[in-house]
Amino acid sequence: MRKKIVAGNWKMNNDLAQTQTLISDLKKSLPATDAEVKIAPTYTNLYPAYEALKDSAIEVVAQNMHQEENGAYTGEISASMLKSVGIKTVILGHSERRAYFGEDDALLAKKVDTAIKHEMDIIFCFGEELEDRKSDNHFKLVESQLKNALFHLEAAAWKRIVLAYEPVWAIGTGETASPEQAQEMHEFIRKTLADKYSQDLADSISILYGGSVKPANAEEIFSKPDVDGGLIGGAALKAEDFIGIVKAI
Ligand code: G3H
Repeated sequence: MRKKIVAGNWKMNNDLAQTQTLISDLKKSLPATDAEVKIAPTYTNLYPAYEALKDSAIEVVAQNMHQEENGAYTGEISASMLKSVGIKTVILGHSERRAYFGEDDALLAKKVDTAIKHEMDIIFCFGEELEDRKSDNHFKLVESQLKNALFHLEAAAWKRIVLAYEPVWAIGTGETASPEQAQEMHEFIRKTLADKYSQDLADSISILYGGSVKPANAEEIFSKPDVDGGLIGGAALKAEDFIGIVKAI
């Protein structure tokens, strides 16, 4: 059985007080669920969030990390720093990191290797832009993102990987991929994994969908057989909405 996961990526939102309020609201209303529930606050709030949630069912994860161990990389955060404040999972490859901070597949492959070396779990994001879909290049593009950043890994390393398919045109736009479009791509991703590794490995990997998931559309998206949960942006910033999405899984 694959893990079901709902993860909230808070992006660059919420100061310390807002973080504490949202966490306290989430703790109060989190329903019993078989799914893993995660939140990704910004760096400055990781440790207070970890302290507030360490005895709860909600895991605190990081939004990014640097590929090097330590050194003269002003403004950056390493894997061992994250681990030292209790963080065991990191989001890598988010489309905003790719678009605004120049992160490409080769860099992401290094970040993936560093995270695995430090025994961290990874939520690896990828997905096509609107032009790729319009030109019918979306399957090729997604396949190349997977190959370039992840297919150097040995099968054993995949126990640390969760995939998050996020079509860039659906992120923060209010435009969601239809449940059929999500299923079609998730099925393709799983087949690509099966061809490269094995059907068993492909069947064991959780593939999340991200892009304008809300309480109103979550249930239909999550009902698709190859969709194992969601990576939630805007709707993760309101406890009521995030909890509504957790209830939908
Ligand atoms: O990491 C989350 C995704 O970028 C989705 O964001 O739910 O605001 O579209 P969104």
